[in-house]
Amino acid sequence: MYKNSLINNIISENNNELLIKGEHFEKFLSKEKGATLIVIKDIISDNCLFLNDVIKKATKNSFTVCYAYKVAPTMEILEVIKERGMGIEIYSLTELEMALSIGVSTIVVDGMYKTDELLTKSIQNNVTIINADSIKEIIRINEIAEKYNIIQDIGIRVKKREDSKMGISVEQIEQFLTTLKSFHNVRVIGVHIHPGSNASEEVVINSYLKMFNMFKVLRNAGFLIKYVDFGGGLPERNIVEKSLLKRISEYIDAFEKHEDIHYIFEPGRFIVGDAGIIFSRVLDKRVDENLIILNIAVMPYFSNTKSTFRYMFPSQIKYEPKGSWRICGLWPLDQDEISSEALYQGVPKELEEGDCFCILNAGAYNIDRIEEYTLTGDMEIKYI
Ligand SMILES: Cc1ncc(COP(=O)(O)O)c(C=O)c1O
Repeated sequence: MYKNSLINNIISENNNELLIKGEHFEKFLSKEKGATLIVIKDIISDNCLFLNDVIKKATKNSFTVCYAYKVAPTMEILEVIKERGMGIEIYSLTELEMALSIGVSTIVVDGMYKTDELLTKSIQNNVTIINADSIKEIIRINEIAEKYNIIQDIGIRVKKREDSKMGISVEQIEQFLTTLKSFHNVRVIGVHIHPGSNASEEVVINSYLKMFNMFKVLRNAGFLIKYVDFGGGLPERNIVEKSLLKRISEYIDAFEKHEDIHYIFEPGRFIVGDAGIIFSRVLDKRVDENLIILNIAVMPYFSNTKSTFRYMFPSQIKYEPKGSWRICGLWPLDQDEISSEALYQGVPKELEEGDCFCILNAGAYNIDRIEEYTLTGDMEIKYI
């Protein structure tokens, strides 16, 4: 069973200062490096358990949760995923090789354009399913599989909007049905969509209705569609925890009358988002301008990650917000600043140069771009 209060056990406070696993936070910060991304593996592990439990409550159908590896693509994280018995969603040859190297059992291959090398290796290694992104890609998969005398299971990635560059529309598939039925080396057994990362509820529900439509068209055409893959899109666990069961139940609702379906979920952010904390320091306090300058840029977080921003001053957990301090990053750009609305709990007056500032919910879409945060690649990634 997952432990509901695990995060509270991992992150606590003493004397108004942050403790991680019972130790003062400074213990985890490198003296040499100016900033640190701490990734807490127990939180990742617990998020996997929690999500599994909730999906189990929502449906009697079978399902597999496949971590979207691109969201934080490191071996350390993959090992936790493997330990939890989860599958993996990959979109490049490197990711496939990492997954194969540690023997992940369920591998879903996604991606806008899959190279011949990726397709060949996926087919040869008997991946669970390849979600085809275009009609041309279905033709390529069939050709490659034929070369190796293999019948490859594929899913159809559904366009979430007519003008989306990703996926295949119902109209496209309808025009292609006769040819598709003549292919001997692909077996169409799945539908797939990804509503977008941290997408609004409306977009998510509309996307899943589109996928349901494709599901019906393909089943009516005689394809035994078994896999229904909902992609990712969930927010961080700390944002969605209480409403998760309701959300998942709504997502799967249209499919629930079919008992012969196996669901796939491809969460990334939900699994790793709240497991990552960026620790930075105040470089400069410009009292005459009410400016705090950090030793990291803040723009990459806001422009790249679509994360739900939460922050903390780990040496002053509770404080009386004073004045109207602005918090800026060190990129030479005026836009590299945390907006005043985002600073929803204000800034302590007592903040000094050298003090820490934490960006919480920083585990998703950061690890592979971490060098963007500093001018000198001066951010350490620490797994604890
Ligand atoms: C196909 C696919 N599945 C899953 C994900 C993971 O999304 P999230 O981190 O929002 O769960 C992504 C992210 O881009 C994706 O492209």
